[in-house]
Amino acid sequence: MMGKFLPRKDAYNVAVVGATGEVGQTMLEILAGRDFPVGDLVPLASSRSAGSRIEFRGREYVVRDLADFDPSGLDIALFSAGGDTSLEYTPRFAECGCYVIDNSSAWRMHDDVCLVVPEVNPQALEMARENHIVANPNCSTIQMVVALKPLHDAVPVKRVVVSTYQAVSGAGGRAIEELAMQTRSLLAGNKAEVHVLPARIAFNVIPHIDVFLDDGYTREERKMMDETRKIMGTDIAVTATAVRVPVFYSHAEAVNLTFEAPMTAEYARNILARADGICVVDDPAGEDYPLPSDAAGTDPVWVGRIRDDDSCPNSLHLWIVADNVRKGAALNAVQIAEILVHQLAE
Ligand SMILES: NC(=O)c1ccc[n+]([C@@H]2O[C@H](COP(=O)([O-])OP(=O)(O)OC[C@H]3O[C@@H](n4cnc5c(N)ncnc54)[C@H](OP(=O)(O)O)[C@@H]3O)[C@@H](O)[C@H]2O)c1
Repeated sequence: MMGKFLPRKDAYNVAVVGATGEVGQTMLEILAGRDFPVGDLVPLASSRSAGSRIEFRGREYVVRDLADFDPSGLDIALFSAGGDTSLEYTPRFAECGCYVIDNSSAWRMHDDVCLVVPEVNPQALEMARENHIVANPNCSTIQMVVALKPLHDAVPVKRVVVSTYQAVSGAGGRAIEELAMQTRSLLAGNKAEVHVLPARIAFNVIPHIDVFLDDGYTREERKMMDETRKIMGTDIAVTATAVRVPVFYSHAEAVNLTFEAPMTAEYARNILARADGICVVDDPAGEDYPLPSDAAGTDPVWVGRIRDDDSCPNSLHLWIVADNVRKGAALNAVQIAEILVHQLAE
């Protein structure tokens, strides 16, 4: 049996970096909701919101400035404050012996940093014993690999074609406000101002998330392609189109899978119904399928519209929906922290 990551204690000192943001706020809610053994809690953000107050388990805490915080004595730091902030501060936290679980894209593709989804590759966490940094994958990648893994274990997946329908919360609190403001403005007969997302999102869809790369893909698409292979540990062919839609919470994905050998919709439905972290809602006769509005605020990855793809051998379609701020970010990070305080199942 491998040793524990952290010594056994009644409670662990936890920092939430980006505690005033969408993901940070949800991390606090999930730490409390899952009764994570938090001793000292340290909410951190930039100088902009240092001094403001947040609530955790019925107690008020003052938000502190990350720039002048000394991480000594921390056990775990949950970072969700952007890639540049992570690159600058996570090494200092890790050097103090604290385990960093980083939600940004800063470390995800580094060879010596593990990229972990607890339902898929918890063993990869072993790598973090050395450098104390664990990367949390991109939100769209997480929900897809949770569904992919049990199917791949039954019959290897050869190719994945995914189109995403991503909620504005994936771009942070300011993008949520932008959708609300634009919607109000347009309904009142006024113009919609664009500040955060690359185009008007109200009553629109935008095939552009993150920046464009030289090959015509966006970085969000590239993340899904590269991160899926790293997490699954195999060279599956993956191609993605990432689209922002005017939904507040929960990303949806239309996924087409091609397997190395026969895989039917019925077999896939049975496998997914038994898989960890997944709820199947798939009843065409009853017109029942996963919706972002139902998935918002919930923990599972919801899968439906499971059907054979008659246009290609050994292929099927899935519709995958999950709350991007919970399973796509905060919940996945807290599940990783839970393994760090308990240890990997054998
Ligand atoms: N939203 C999602 O679905 C999702 C999913 C996966 C990963 N992520 C990643 O999580 C991170 C945060 O996302 P979010 O949606 O929570 O964004 P957000 O709502 O805009 O919040 C950003 C947070 O980061 C803090 N911050 C920004 N710059 C900082 C700095 N220099 N030093 C310290 N704190 C700083 C902000 O603090 P102030 O209040 O001081 O500005 C705020 O608490 C990003 O890296 C994002 O890519 C988000």
